[in-house]
Order: sequence, then C-alpha cells, then structure tokens
Amino acid sequence: MEILLVNDLWVKYFTLSGVVSAVSGVSFKLRRGEMLAIVGESGSGKSTLGLALLNMVPKPGRIIRGEVVFNGVDILKLDPREIRKIRGSRISVVFQDPFTTLDPLRRIVDQFEEFLIEHGVEKVKVRTIVREYLEAVGLSERIMYSYPHQLSGGQKQRVSIAMAIALNPEVIIADEPTTALDVVVQKQIMDLIDSIKEKYKSSIILITHDLALALERADTIMVMYGGYVMEYAEKSELFSNMRHPYTRALFEALPRVLQRDLPRSLPGYPPDLRNPPPGCIFHPRCEFAVEKCKRELPPLIEVSRNHFVSCHRVGELL
Ligand SMILES: Nc1ncnc2c1ncn2[C@@H]1O[C@H](COP(=O)(O)OP(=O)(O)O)[C@@H](O)[C@H]1O
Ligand SMILES: [Mg+2]
Repeated sequence: MEILLVNDLWVKYFTLSGVVSAVSGVSFKLRRGEMLAIVGESGSGKSTLGLALLNMVPKPGRIIRGEVVFNGVDILKLDPREIRKIRGSRISVVFQDPFTTLDPLRRIVDQFEEFLIEHGVEKVKVRTIVREYLEAVGLSERIMYSYPHQLSGGQKQRVSIAMAIALNPEVIIADEPTTALDVVVQKQIMDLIDSIKEKYKSSIILITHDLALALERADTIMVMYGGYVMEYAEKSELFSNMRHPYTRALFEALPRVLQRDLPRSLPGYPPDLRNPPPGCIFHPRCEFAVEKCKRELPPLIEVSRNHFVSCHRVGELL
C-alpha cells in the first residue's frame, strides 16, 4: 500500500544565467515501512526533489508540473497553512547540516518544545516528549540544556532526528543525513534510522550520493542523473541485475575491499543543467552511446517486474 505517490514531477530554477532543469519527469511510489534511497552524484537533483515533495523548493525554483499524492491528497495543491500542518508532523525532513534546523543561540529544550507546541502538542506534555525522544535517539537528558554549538556533529544530528520523529510522522525524508559525519558516527546514525524504521514503521526516503550506503540500507533504490531517473528497482534486483550504464559506472567507482583492481572512476563531468545535452542526458559520458542516444530521450521501461530503466540500449546490454 503506497503512502506517497509522485507523478511526473518537474522542477526548474529560473536564474539570471539561465533556466536550470533540476528535476525532470520523476515518478515513484513509496510504500508504508519502505526505505527508498535516491542515489546520484552531486548536482543530480536529489535535494531539489526532496524539497519539492513538501513544496519547499526555494526561489528562484518553481515546480512546473507533477503531483505528490500523500494519503490520497496532492500536497502541491494544498495552501501553505495546510502544508505547514503536514510538514514536521506527518512528513518530516532531516538535513545534512543540522544547523539548518537548529538555532545555534537557543537551548535544545527550548527549540524542541517550541516545535512541539507549534504542532499543537499541549504545553504540559512537551517536556516529557522531549525527554522520551532524546532518549530514543541515544542522548542523555543533560543534552536538553545545551546549546547546539556545545554538541558534536553526531549529537546535533541525533537531536534533529529526535525532532523529526517526535510527532510520529509517516514519512521521513533524510537528505545526506550522515555525509558531514565521520565513518563511525555515520554508522551509528544509520543504525538509528534503521531502528526508527523498525520501531515506528515509518517510510524513509534516504537521499545520498553513496551507492554503497544505499545498497547496504535501503529496500528500494532510485538512481538519478541530471534530474532524470536512470534506474529504479528493489535493492536485491538492482544489485544482481544492474542494467543502466550509469548505475554500473557508479558501482564500478565504489572502493572495494579484497580486490586488486582500483575502482574505475567515471570520466567526464555531470551535465550543465542550464543547457543539457539533447537525447539521453547521460549520453556524453556513456561508453555505449549510439546515434539514437544523442537524439531521443529514452523512456523509462519496465524491464522486469518493478525494475525500471531509462536506456535505449537496455535490450542489447545484458
Ligand atoms: N537555489 C538554487 N538556485 C539555482 N540553482 C539551483 C539551486 N539549488 C540547486 N540548483 C541547481 O539544481 C541542480 C540540482 O541541484 P540539487 O538538487 O542540489 O542536486 P543534488 O542534491 O543531487 O546535489 C544543480 O544544477 C544545482 O546547481
Ligand atoms: Mg543535495
């Protein structure tokens, strides 16, 4: 049963130096309790997509078309007041940099309580909830009375996760939640997100540039490049049957233990989204590109059940 259904979403930034096509015709669905990883190099439109799901794309960005259907209601058609009610309580967001959520000059407890009160929690209950959720993310009570600048990066991220889960949202969007953290803390935070998924049965959208992390943690993986979906499948299917040259290139670029060959990096650069190449957006970097790829946008084809690939050559490359 789907909790979120995204249909043909397009987002552009209207900058002084041109129109940036950041998200181009993206569709996907998120099931209850599912962890979907959205993977791609920097600049592939992942964060813009995450923001668009809550109609939060900043100026000069604009959602051009598409639907984001949450529990049967198109979020993009709601007025700002109705969206504010959903944001934080039914769909919450965790960012890479917890400073975007936390005010450095105010104590954790004050910010956390204010957030709860804004979302309609009774004043007499808030202190208990703050305690409960700080404990749930593995922080001691003492942290409540600290200021964000007194905390480590991992502790701050735990606080923003505590706030993100405190109202039992059905969907949590986590945009590179561990990218700014060192490896050990990264693992702890991902374990925490996993345990939240189990305990609260939340659906999670994990946005990451790291295919290895997605393969380790997610149920489903959507690979994006230049604003387009390249490949989309359940993790085990994707792992055993990678079909898109871009997914394969990302995979080849992963560092590997127990292998003598060096990882192969993908030559070339991501496209300039103000002036994207015609045809398949990946063709200038694709070793399999043929004439057709330079002219025609490849459709997203279902190659096997729930496995989608956008590549003209998918039938030939096995
Ligand atoms: N506020 C903005 N104004 C103009 N262009 C933007 C803005 N934010 C992002 N972009 C552009 O949109 C494209 C997608 O960016 P983004 O969604 O941040 O990708 P990712 O999260 O995958 O790195 C990039 O070309 C980026 O330069
Ligand atoms: Mg990003």
